[in-house]
Amino acid sequence: MSHRLSPAFSSLLKPPIFSISPQITRYRMASSQASVFGLKDPSLIKFQGLIGGKWVDAKDGAKIVVKNPASNQELGTVPEMGLAETKEAIDAAAKAFPTWSTTTAKERHDILMKMYALMQQHHDDLGRLITLENGKTLTEGKGENTYSSSFIEWYAEEAIRTYGEQIPSAFKNVRNVVIKQPVGVVSIMTPWNFPSAMITRKLGAALAAGCTTVIKPPPETPFSALALAELASRAGVPDGVINVVTTEKNVTVVGKEMCESPIVKKVTFTGSTPVAKLLAGMAASTLKKVSLEAGGNAPFIIFDDANIDEAVAAAILCKFRSSGQTCVCANRIYVHSTVYAEFASRLAEKVAAFKIGDGLDEATTHGPLIHSRATQKVTRHVEDAVSKGAQVLVGGKVVEDTNFFQPTVLSDVPADALVNDEETFGPLAALVKFDTEDEVIKLANSTTFGLAGYFFSRDVGRAWRVAERLEVGMVAVNTGLISQATIPFGGIKESGLGREGGPHGIDEYMNEKLIVFGGL
Ligand code: SIN
Repeated sequence: MSHRLSPAFSSLLKPPIFSISPQITRYRMASSQASVFGLKDPSLIKFQGLIGGKWVDAKDGAKIVVKNPASNQELGTVPEMGLAETKEAIDAAAKAFPTWSTTTAKERHDILMKMYALMQQHHDDLGRLITLENGKTLTEGKGENTYSSSFIEWYAEEAIRTYGEQIPSAFKNVRNVVIKQPVGVVSIMTPWNFPSAMITRKLGAALAAGCTTVIKPPPETPFSALALAELASRAGVPDGVINVVTTEKNVTVVGKEMCESPIVKKVTFTGSTPVAKLLAGMAASTLKKVSLEAGGNAPFIIFDDANIDEAVAAAILCKFRSSGQTCVCANRIYVHSTVYAEFASRLAEKVAAFKIGDGLDEATTHGPLIHSRATQKVTRHVEDAVSKGAQVLVGGKVVEDTNFFQPTVLSDVPADALVNDEETFGPLAALVKFDTEDEVIKLANSTTFGLAGYFFSRDVGRAWRVAERLEVGMVAVNTGLISQATIPFGGIKESGLGREGGPHGIDEYMNEKLIVFGGL
């Protein structure tokens, strides 16, 4: 007698408990992968993109491996999406627009305030997540969550203040009114140096205005973006209003579609100047609105009447924040010859005391750079300056086979060094000597960039003169920190277009419409 059962009969005997659905398998895999992050709420970790309210993989199953830059160990994977997924995401955003754009400003305010509250509630987890994928210290990671959530709070409050205008008419029996309306679907492209804040700075404005969105986070730090999308959904943002497309190798086709699709009405980007120019060119094909926050090469000037203690503390904050990886970091430090030696030695002493290491380690003051391309650029800048006569006061080297670069101070850096020309985006303080106000203004402005500029002086007349003469979008006088949600953040020259945050930031996501009422 055969021991084999007929297929039909054997399937009847199969206990259903052993048939695990693909969703459950995926859920189990995801929760065991999520445990790597050590969050209190592991369900904030998503390993899929988000389209039309559904967490999805790439159609071909391709994946991007995301690594912790402090250890180069794998954190997890996200989908390598392409053109088809991008089109679907844009369609989903377009489908959600009629409903979201006609919610009341108060309804959007309330949802954003709920999202802000959730970001506070999950502060430790979100800060840790930023540290794990970006490498910055936990203090900086949590600081970024505070900064990031402040954009959501700010724009919640702006949503209810998108006033229009009534303009007296030149004609009798006619009234002119200007109203503001959301532009439509917005493409959001962001960098890895602020995995969360560069998204909320754009997303908060878009949502508050009534726009729907497609976000392309950077491949190095997608998990913060996905966690934000999850929290937005928990706060009540409807399906399709936020879509997240993760990509690395397909970035060219994805970016092109996000800029050229006629469905998309605005492109907003933070990143390098060459990429900003490319995107602006693509967006021009349909004359979309654009906001571009591009590269910086910030001058940081210490005049002879500066308070040196304050200038040193500010230079440290400004130069070494996120290990030098911000667009507004001091890049060229100009010090008046009479205070040069004092400033250089005090700065070098403080920098020598920094402790580089894993951002989760409490003793760490500065984390790694994002990847080896970043350490190679700092090495190139140090070697170039030294070859032209600069002296290494502290640091100067990459820590072999890691993404760590020793926090570095160079003195006697000549004006023609590469570091004065290109944004280093790393922990290198390059000190250049100057003698007169005119000379330093000329040096400071001798760049195609114009994002931020800093100077220290206690002379009120000079403060006004220099603030007005620096060719930048943002000037900081006697402080090393500019960034707040409440200010118009942005550059001039090749550092970008438009302003983010501040009293008019939401206008970049709205169209003005004139209504002329006649025949009264
Ligand atoms: C940036 O690096 O692009 C932004 C920095 C900031 O908002 O402080």
